[in-house]
Amino acid sequence: MTRKRLLMGNWKMYKTVAETRRFVEDLQGLTQKTPLPAQVETVICPPFTAIGELVRWVNASSQPIGVGAQNVHFAAQGAFTGEISADMLADLGVKYVLVGHSERRTLFGESDEWVQQKAAAVAAQGMQPVICVGENQDERDAQRTLDVVEHQTLTALNGLAASSRGADVVGTAVIAYEPVWAIGSGRTPAPEEAQAVIGAIRQCVARACGAAAADRIRILYGGSVKPENIASFTLQPDIDGALVGGASLQADSFLAMAQAM
Ligand code: G3P
Repeated sequence: MTRKRLLMGNWKMYKTVAETRRFVEDLQGLTQKTPLPAQVETVICPPFTAIGELVRWVNASSQPIGVGAQNVHFAAQGAFTGEISADMLADLGVKYVLVGHSERRTLFGESDEWVQQKAAAVAAQGMQPVICVGENQDERDAQRTLDVVEHQTLTALNGLAASSRGADVVGTAVIAYEPVWAIGSGRTPAPEEAQAVIGAIRQCVARACGAAAADRIRILYGGSVKPENIASFTLQPDIDGALVGGASLQADSFLAMAQAM
């Protein structure tokens, strides 16, 4: 199966609504000369406060960009001050939701089990969970990378596989392999090393959820991706795209990455 390439920008806690508007104006201007390539699906995950603005612009323009969210609560509703539910995001027009980003796991104590529940809540609302996995420096030094990412992947997928459409739902999810030590550090694994880990993740999906789901699920690389290095990752056979932080904040580098994939 050919999997459509996917470029996702994770803006983290950057950009006000006014700054988001400036980004879209810049992108609009740039794409008049060089359109976003049709063979790449592009998604931006802004802060919650800018989702509405981005969805309005996407709907009003002909830009083929999807809008994602960076986090979600797994409960349907309730007394959870400060939290946002999956149906609130779906209601806004969100298509993808990041779950288990390493910053959520390390700074906000999110467990594998929470990530599992969040992925299930996102899929239940018809959106695609983007399950983030990755080893930290100590785990890498102890050569535990595969153990860590396989455990994180399987725990998260269990919640999807248990749903009524099981393997189908798994196939439409996205996994993002982001080595924690590569995030925002300017350091990356060699593309062949990222391929080896992502290939192992795909095999683990095949063992747990079947070959069809493994063949269909898109697996991204993330961590210090920029226009200059993105192709070295996306040329690898199992790497279907990239989840990008810093380099997704400027319209010109976002466009350059989409073109380079
Ligand atoms: O989710 C994307 C991210 O964690 C990678 O960030 O800035 O290294 O591209 P960055």
